[in-house]
Amino acid sequence: MRKKRIVVFASGRGSNAAALRRAILEGSIKGELVGAVCDVADAPFIKTASSWGVPVIVAERKGFVSQPDFEAYIAARIEPLRPDLLCLAGFMRLLSGDFIKPYAHRIMNIHPALLPAFKGLHAQRQAVEAGVKVAGCTVHFVVPDMDAGPIIIQETVPVRDDDTEDTLAARILTKEHPAYVRAVSLFCDDKLEITGNKVHIRD
Ligand code: GRF
Repeated sequence: MRKKRIVVFASGRGSNAAALRRAILEGSIKGELVGAVCDVADAPFIKTASSWGVPVIVAERKGFVSQPDFEAYIAARIEPLRPDLLCLAGFMRLLSGDFIKPYAHRIMNIHPALLPAFKGLHAQRQAVEAGVKVAGCTVHFVVPDMDAGPIIIQETVPVRDDDTEDTLAARILTKEHPAYVRAVSLFCDDKLEITGNKVHIRD
């Protein structure tokens, strides 16, 4: 089977993107990292990705007149990389239907909540404030609506009485990395089958 070509997108620290890269190097993801995209010019992720030996595309929304211009810039730079899969890993910007369309069911995102609960920013704070007893993370395919789209994998963690947004976020993050690695690995092994809004994992 041909190795899938993967581009990672991040806006900040990039620990999920780094976990994916590690898994690729170790062989637990049978893919190839071919590029990185960042939309924040001073994000730590840029420094990290710069040592990876792949093109790092930096584009800030404020540098463009419109969202379509911003997206067209990124699209034109990732296209020559011939990606099979785009992995949004802490990429804090919504992508439009026009951007997503050519990559339908080939863009994944990780969200630090058990979707469809607690979409959007500060998902872990939302969970603490709601008083839920179980929280977690979701890896899903991306559709134009925020934090929606067919769910591939979810992992749970307990919420403790004294949790803050930060302590819960740290606990969830330990589950995010392996969950994202598993979802990407299943994709690379052609094990994900999508029917409507559901993802079936083939044996
Ligand atoms: C993660 O919690 C991810 O789920 C969320 O933003 C955070 C990014 O962390 N979307 P990192 O940049 O991958 O370290």
